[in-house]
Amino acid sequence: MQSWSTRLGVILAVTGSAVGLGNFLRFPGLVAEHGGAFIIPYVIAFLIIGLPVAWMEWTMGRAGGARGTCSVPGIMRALGGQRWLAYPGALAPAIPIFLCGFYLFVEAWCLAYAWKYLIGTAPGAATAKQDFLQWIGATEDHGYLFLHGSADLWGALLLVLAINGLVIWFGVSRGIERVCTWAMPLLIAIALLMVGRVLTLPPVEGRSVLDGLAAMWEPREVASKLTSGEVWLAAAGQIFFSLSVGIGAITTYAAYMRRDTDVALSGLTAAAGNEFCEVALGGMIVVPAAFVFLGASYAAYTGSSIAMGFFALPGVFEAMPAGRWFGFLFFVLLSLAALTSSLSMIQPSMAFIEEALGWSRRRALLLVFAVLLAGLGIVVWACRGTVAIDTLDFWAATLGITAVALITALVFNWAWGTERGIAELRREAEIALPPGLGVVMRWLAPLALLIILGWFLWGELQAFRDGKGMLRTLLAERGAQLAMAWMLATIALYLAIARCGQRRWDALITKEAA
Ligand code: ALA
Repeated sequence: MQSWSTRLGVILAVTGSAVGLGNFLRFPGLVAEHGGAFIIPYVIAFLIIGLPVAWMEWTMGRAGGARGTCSVPGIMRALGGQRWLAYPGALAPAIPIFLCGFYLFVEAWCLAYAWKYLIGTAPGAATAKQDFLQWIGATEDHGYLFLHGSADLWGALLLVLAINGLVIWFGVSRGIERVCTWAMPLLIAIALLMVGRVLTLPPVEGRSVLDGLAAMWEPREVASKLTSGEVWLAAAGQIFFSLSVGIGAITTYAAYMRRDTDVALSGLTAAAGNEFCEVALGGMIVVPAAFVFLGASYAAYTGSSIAMGFFALPGVFEAMPAGRWFGFLFFVLLSLAALTSSLSMIQPSMAFIEEALGWSRRRALLLVFAVLLAGLGIVVWACRGTVAIDTLDFWAATLGITAVALITALVFNWAWGTERGIAELRREAEIALPPGLGVVMRWLAPLALLIILGWFLWGELQAFRDGKGMLRTLLAERGAQLAMAWMLATIALYLAIARCGQRRWDALITKEAA
């Protein structure tokens, strides 16, 4: 069984999984859209679902590893003591593969933009959007994303696939740990430099950075924001996506820890590291800079990470002194953040396939990449506009992550037992756990997850009735249907693999328990 070489290594790997495009593009866009009031549901979601579920995953991972299994289906089976738990557990490695189906594509955009800034061919403000759409081949006349995309984008995509494949092939400690150990400090150093640059920008046409921070963070329409279900869903969704809970990554990574290593402080450190990168770094760079250089028109870009990163930022870097170099650094930062996250989306499937089928790492990697390439192929060719990306984002990043978080909470509390789980979390803990954690873990977190799921599905049904929503898109768009077919086929494959793995787990888990 593989293992991390140091405790810092696992903390950096989990923080690397959490810190991603969500921190530097998605979060600033959400705060700018909803105003400072957004931070209230965001913090509440962090405290009652984000951190408790992250702790459940850390604890279950370490306990599962000690029983000889490091895949989420195996861990759920081992701790819950029921063979059938491997089947809901198989959703955990599937969901991040669905996310990875489009995340790798965006990672390639970031890498290619870093290159464009380095060689001085990045687009300017006037043509940023048009250039980007042309570049990925999503022009009005054919509407097929990337079909006519440019050669440098193909190159970046191949490079991203090769880097991810190579790092995973090197394994947990020689691959993932090594990359995260240098990528995370480098990423934070670049982010600090960017924050320093943005905070010292002189005013442009009377607009200062402080005005930009105020426009973004000022609490406005607090009452209506706090009573809006949409804002609560967005805050909870951001917490899940950003902390990388509900994607099996933390559980899988924690399974490679030594049994005598603390998980309470490690989990808190990784979550706090992510929040620092999100609020203190991500929240200080993109939107304030966009406000200074683009004026009030920056608001048009806040609803979408793609618009923020690829339509608005080129205008900012064009206007900023030495903007070419800051543009280069910022897209290097995004590429590193995306890489450390995408690795954590692939590893849960690797652990699952290697363990359930008894395959070598190389064979498992080939199967995982075959599955991934099928999804990426759909995203790249067969979608109109970004419909396949939106489909994967909606069903996997929103619904799937919440469902896996709920399954995790149910297994932790009812199959394994809250008291046993908390006792395991306390073992070797280097911090005192907050009082009332048992109630939060057993009742509040699962209840909040159920409400979120119900609210979300209800909203979708309402939208369907009104002739809108993602279910309608699914009925109408070929790209959405293909993306859904890929997800369903992958789930069927993973269930079949879990079925094959039962005999191996019987032997593996019994052997460790004896
Ligand atoms: N947690 C990763 C992000 O924020 C997926 O992008």
